[in-house]
Amino acid sequence: MQTGMTTGTARRIGVPREIFLGEKRVATVPDVVEKLIKLGFSVAIESGAGELANFSDDSYRAAGAQVIDGAAALWAASDIVFKVRGPTADEIGLMRQGGALIGFIWPAQNPDLMQLLAAKQATVLAIDALPRMLSRAQKMDALTSMAGVTGYRAVIEAANAFGRFFNGQITAAGKVPPAKVFIAGAGVAGLAAIGTAASLGAIVRANDTRAEVADQVTSLGGEFVKVDYVEEGGGGGGYAKVMSEGFQQAQREMYARQAKEVDIIITTALIPGKPAPKLISAEMVRSMKPGSVIVDMAAEQGGNCELTEPGQSVVKHGVTIVGYTDLASRLAKQSSTLYGSNLFRLAEELCKTKDGVINVNMEDDAIRGLTVVKDGSITWPAPAPKLPAVPVVAAKPINAPAAKKAHGHGAPSEPMAGNKLAIMFGVSAALFWFVGANAPAAFLAHFTVFVLACFVGYMVVWNVKPALHTPLMSVTNAISSIIAIGALVQIAPPLAEVTNRPETWIRGLAAVGIVLTAINMFGGFAVTQRMLAMFRK
Ligand code: NAI
Repeated sequence: MQTGMTTGTARRIGVPREIFLGEKRVATVPDVVEKLIKLGFSVAIESGAGELANFSDDSYRAAGAQVIDGAAALWAASDIVFKVRGPTADEIGLMRQGGALIGFIWPAQNPDLMQLLAAKQATVLAIDALPRMLSRAQKMDALTSMAGVTGYRAVIEAANAFGRFFNGQITAAGKVPPAKVFIAGAGVAGLAAIGTAASLGAIVRANDTRAEVADQVTSLGGEFVKVDYVEEGGGGGGYAKVMSEGFQQAQREMYARQAKEVDIIITTALIPGKPAPKLISAEMVRSMKPGSVIVDMAAEQGGNCELTEPGQSVVKHGVTIVGYTDLASRLAKQSSTLYGSNLFRLAEELCKTKDGVINVNMEDDAIRGLTVVKDGSITWPAPAPKLPAVPVVAAKPINAPAAKKAHGHGAPSEPMAGNKLAIMFGVSAALFWFVGANAPAAFLAHFTVFVLACFVGYMVVWNVKPALHTPLMSVTNAISSIIAIGALVQIAPPLAEVTNRPETWIRGLAAVGIVLTAINMFGGFAVTQRMLAMFRK
């Protein structure tokens, strides 16, 4: 479907300076300007727009952008405006009638803003409304790229407020224990925080209501701490839901235990369209060690901690509680670069003809989801996309037998899995019978050993945590040096009754083999030890 925005000559993209107090990000960066120009657009940027993110006017000029003084002139000259934060009423006043706007809009929370934009006959794409489950949409997913930045920055803020090392150290002055970090909520931001804290050397634990994230936590070097209560935590589309009172009680007990043990708590728990769940009570804060730190990443949505003051860092009961709501902006260069790339990918989708003319194709699931106002008509909320390209993985119950009891029936897939297993066993047994009946006896013996080895190998690999696969491969490589026995047999002095002593050259090769396998064996075990030492805290 074509609109007024689709016709005419190449369009100019305008990027104003963000006016929200303390906002340092900018919606495009010089590298992206060059790419937008290659797509056929011309780009204008308000003078000073990139200054707080360390991008000078000159760097934009060098990339081919026109630098315009003052917001009014910039908005007037722009067909499509790229922004980070949603526009204010004053900014909408500056907008061209029938213009286009792309940025964070949060339509559910900002109905008045939506009305103002509609009155301007605008076409508005809310980057926060992207259907994230479409795999094609991932390159445009600014929520994910911003969450990655905020998760990282939350750990840096925690490290800044914390008076000790994150990693354990043994120094001449004594042993320093590693910091213990607990992450509440293992979504995109939580996982970024887990990876960052683990790479700094801390012991990291995490919890989420969605049990399916446990593997992701482990693969990033964290430990998933379960709540001792069985309840499905997914609310659809990979997001969480409000949990039952019974679950919340069990979760509070577990969090209270963690609060006493850990040094740092980073909370990221959010439920779409609901206030942030209160997970850390004032009592839990009181029970933490003096000098501990809480970084509440949900501060803007009311906070996960009862004592958080949004936008502030405060010390209460000897615990620093960081409630900054501008974590992405505190890493402005990085977040602007990622955000700029997300918008460029969106521009590519809107301008497949590469001639600077955009086509807001409402038949395209990703574009339809993003479009909240179209030529002055409010089109939000979009219907659910027809075919999610990435199937949403159903949450597995923490304790399958207990879950079965709780729900009164088993998971529907279980009989299927049982049937498949029976078929597999049947086919394997028939194959064995066939090989046994037809193959020579010696082959059968070797074949049996081979099959058993495959089975043992499979069980070993699948029962070792993914993070430990490298040391596992190293140790199995060392164990493979068992072949040295073959070489030892060849080199051994002949027994009286053995007449077929190998040729000298075979014994020479066996000697070389023994030396090389010995290096592999002892070196392999030594390297494995060193690798495992890196995982020990
Ligand atoms: P979010 O910011 O809405 O929530 C953060 C985390 O808090 C979630 O993992 C949620 O389960 C957890 N949480 C909520 N209530 C909680 C409670 N009471 N206790 C403990 N934890 C609680 O979520 P985010 O990070 O934006 O995305 C969540 C999920 O969305 C991802 O893990 C993924 O499954 C899905 N997603 C899928 C994408 C894709 O398919 N391309 C892209 C991005 C996200």
